[in-house]
Amino acid sequence: MMTGAQKMPRDGWTRTQAVLLSAGFLLLLCGSVRGGSDGNLQVPAAVQANITSGEDLCKETTQSKGNGPAIPAFNYASSGDDWTGDCQTGKQQSPIDLPTTDNSTLGSIPSSHLVRFGTITASGNAVLRLEIDEVELLSSNWSTANFQIPVCGGDNIGCLESPPDAPVEYMSASIVNLHFHANSEHTRNGNYYGAEAHLVTKITLNGKKNLVVFGTWMDVSSNKTNEFFSGLQSYINDTSVISVGSVCSPVPENVKFSIDNLLPATKTYYAYRGSLTTPPCTEGVTWIVFTKPVQMSITQLKALYKSNAYTSQPCANVTTNALCNILGARTNNRLLQPLNGRTIKLGSYGPDSN
Ligand SMILES: *[C@@H]1O[C@H](CO)[C@@H](O)[C@H](O)[C@H]1NC(C)=O
Ligand SMILES: *[C@@H]1O[C@H](CO)[C@@H](O)[C@H](O)[C@H]1NC(C)=O
Ligand SMILES: *[C@@H]1O[C@H](CO)[C@@H](O)[C@H](O)[C@H]1NC(C)=O
Ligand SMILES: *[C@@H]1O[C@H](CO)[C@@H](O)[C@H](O)[C@H]1NC(C)=O
Ligand SMILES: *[C@@H]1O[C@H](CO)[C@@H](O)[C@H](O)[C@H]1NC(C)=O
Ligand SMILES: *[C@@H]1O[C@H](CO)[C@@H](O)[C@H](O)[C@H]1NC(C)=O
Ligand SMILES: [Zn+2]
Repeated sequence: MMTGAQKMPRDGWTRTQAVLLSAGFLLLLCGSVRGGSDGNLQVPAAVQANITSGEDLCKETTQSKGNGPAIPAFNYASSGDDWTGDCQTGKQQSPIDLPTTDNSTLGSIPSSHLVRFGTITASGNAVLRLEIDEVELLSSNWSTANFQIPVCGGDNIGCLESPPDAPVEYMSASIVNLHFHANSEHTRNGNYYGAEAHLVTKITLNGKKNLVVFGTWMDVSSNKTNEFFSGLQSYINDTSVISVGSVCSPVPENVKFSIDNLLPATKTYYAYRGSLTTPPCTEGVTWIVFTKPVQMSITQLKALYKSNAYTSQPCANVTTNALCNILGARTNNRLLQPLNGRTIKLGSYGPDSN
């Protein structure tokens, strides 16, 4: 098992492996190389070939329902302030505060270099509630159409540092997982949203895996039900097993998720270079955060908070006290990180894009 782990790139240490290993002391030894939430769960290709259902996926992921590890590799007691390694020393960390787009002075990404958002669907699903902190949608069959990421000059993902006329190659990204943070991780002009969804994708360039994470803010101020999240809710609101560790709920075969239903209609986005927002906080992640939030109800946000079993902390310590006091003290958002001179660009879709 150690051999298998050593063959993998640092942030390729998968949650599957962490979970499978966790029955013993190996997790303690390997804890420092365990993948972060943004990068992790990938079922090994050989096993993937045999997985078609959420049931299979759960079996591979946790071995048996409710029987996962209760050994948090890290927690949110200090909202990540106590995490070590790159989390402490990195200079291009995430999340960050993003400026408003009113009268924006952000450099813009030319229309010839915009991300192409087609469709993303998932079947053979499982909903995983991880022992440390979060709700994650896994699928044995992610399927994308016309969802493509621009790459300029062979390695400039998102074409962030390229002139407007730079030749571009569009690459299909594969989906790793969809997971949620509450409160939001990125802020807008210093303001938090109730939650933030992360769609983790990867593209391979010259044999190297590169993560591109799409962030969607979830705004509770209008208390409007999010239909996509409703579809997940029945798999996360069973509190009876929450203290046991990772819990995986298979989703019936006929239930498919269309991720486009979660993303905002207007796809104007911020783009910048950052990191995983969980240990080991690996850098080299391209972040695409939509400027428009989607809506979520207070009840739904409560359900999300409740599912974050091991993140409990006093409201005095969390980043948005007002929400904490309403919803209870559970957050899994990392503290904001300094920009350190990084450039944030804006990719605009249409005139009504603020
Ligand atoms: C996949 O399933 C086949 C048939 O059940 C089995 O022989 C094979 O060992 C499985 N492969 C893996 C990687 O589990
Ligand atoms: C909360 O913050 C206080 C003051 O900064 C600190 O003393 C305490 O250890 C923190 N509690 C946790 C659980 O991080
Ligand atoms: C944007 O510019 C308009 C017109 O100059 C001004 O009225 C408005 O206050 C500005 N908005 C921000 C957020 O600076
Ligand atoms: C995978 O998803 C695609 C698109 O939804 C669907 O057409 C196909 O039947 C699915 N395959 C399996 C094995 O479920
Ligand atoms: C949000 O809406 C629900 C009904 O969907 C209602 O029960 C609840 O009281 C509302 N919460 C607030 C804070 O307005
Ligand atoms: C979980 O939520 C769903 C609706 O999203 C509801 O149908 C189901 O009864 C709830 N289960 C529990 C245990 O509360
Ligand atoms: Zn995340």
